[in-house]
Amino acid sequence: MTLAVAHSRAGEGVHAPAVTVEVHLANGLPATTLVGLPETAVRESRERVRGALVNSAFAFPARRITINLAPADLPKEGGRFDLAIALAILAASGQIPAAPLGACEFLGELALTGELRAVRGVLPAALAAREAGRALVLPQANAAEAALASGLEVFGARHLLDVCAHLTGTRALQAQPYPEWAGREPPVPDLTEVRGQYHAKRALEIAAAGAHSLLFLGPPGSGKSMLSARLPGILPPMEEDEALEAAAIASVSRQGFTPAAWRRRPFRAPHHTASGVALVGGGSNPRPGEVSLAHHGVLFLDELPEFDRRALEVLREPLESGSITISRAARQADFPARFQLIAAMNPCPCGYLGDPSGRCRCTAEQVERYRARVSGPLLDRIDLHVETPRVRREQLLGKPDGEPSAVIRRRVVRARERQIARAGVPNAALSNPEVDRWCALQPGDRELLANAIEHLGLSARAYHRVLKVARTIADLAGDADIRTGHLTEAIGYRRLDRRPAGR
Ligand SMILES: Nc1ncnc2c1ncn2[C@@H]1O[C@H](COP(=O)(O)OP(=O)(O)O)[C@@H](O)[C@H]1O
Ligand SMILES: [Mg+2]
Repeated sequence: MTLAVAHSRAGEGVHAPAVTVEVHLANGLPATTLVGLPETAVRESRERVRGALVNSAFAFPARRITINLAPADLPKEGGRFDLAIALAILAASGQIPAAPLGACEFLGELALTGELRAVRGVLPAALAAREAGRALVLPQANAAEAALASGLEVFGARHLLDVCAHLTGTRALQAQPYPEWAGREPPVPDLTEVRGQYHAKRALEIAAAGAHSLLFLGPPGSGKSMLSARLPGILPPMEEDEALEAAAIASVSRQGFTPAAWRRRPFRAPHHTASGVALVGGGSNPRPGEVSLAHHGVLFLDELPEFDRRALEVLREPLESGSITISRAARQADFPARFQLIAAMNPCPCGYLGDPSGRCRCTAEQVERYRARVSGPLLDRIDLHVETPRVRREQLLGKPDGEPSAVIRRRVVRARERQIARAGVPNAALSNPEVDRWCALQPGDRELLANAIEHLGLSARAYHRVLKVARTIADLAGDADIRTGHLTEAIGYRRLDRRPAGR
């Protein structure tokens, strides 16, 4: 045997396309050539593999070695192919049998000692290996993550020698069990910790039920951040496929996947100084940004007017389509980005407009300029505008009040089930024709809404949003029809469309 093949996987966004490692040995001056668009870290793989083989008491063949990573047009990055390369060299040189390689896929970087080092993005590779019907052999440190792909045979190994012993049948590796932590629902902060703010809690429940975007407007310290952080706790529990999608994104991100995040709805709160790349993703080997890390969860933008306007504008694409395309010179990557947007802002530059203390000295012009920093088109895309006045001190010091998150969540789940049964999507995702179909008003209410549009200067987009929110309010009430009370409540959440006085 002078030719051997081992299966591995590259990383491309949240996908893990198959890569075949072919090794050919020929006579001639000893030399090792690596072909197939390898990047620097992959080219260095030659040296790592040589060290690992020699230090594991194997021979590094003194021949002309050609290593081909196929398909050639797929960019390859990192040390993830080391293990497959080493095994293919061993098989091609007859140091291990070649046949067992076919039933497995291999991922892992080799240390010069032959030890296996963890790599990034193993969950997408695990899901793809499961699809391909092969087992996955990878570094022990990655094994638990890979085992989240239930049904896949996962073998974690610490050393190249352990993998070889497994393949030759001298000492089998233990199959990695489905992680015991994966069945647990992680604890989240509870809404009872937020005192007062009943109006805001109601709006949060509506937002949760219909997957609506929401903006809190209120002075510093009124609980906007507290409320927002408690949205994941009242959203429907994550389905397994949602959890896998979210985990796959985390897996290929800079910070990587952590078991503590499994089945926890993402809550991402990027700082307002975050760059466009940090928000939507990017880099020469594209990595997901905050909008994708918030997939199936919440993207919280605190101090909304402080964000760079251009950075906010790029949010429009994922808000409409639920995904984001990142194009770089060499490559392009699509990342899912179906997040729920929650934003918060002060009512004016000093933050105390309308406070009973009367300490706000901002002029009408300053207030207007401050609010205008958030563009109309973005405000238009926010379904619920909610004011959070400062909570009185007695109330803050009182006992926890209001309903626990678990109780609210039960209502949210029921309302969401109605929406899915009706249209297959949460109300926030209804298209305009679907709004016309599912959010019909009674004759008198149509006039009521027409008047409100006139008075509040609502855009066509805002008009559809009012109807969707009214639909969600009716769903929470278990009503088949949208009633007057549902509609007026929904209109009441368009605070910021109102033109400031004197314009
Ligand atoms: N409604 C509230 N109930 C309980 N604590 C509150 C409330 N509002 C504010 N606090 C307290 O004030 C702190 C700041 O609240 P935060 O949510 O950060 O306000 P904001 O985001 O509106 O500036 C919280 O950590 C909490 O201790
Ligand atoms: Mg805050």
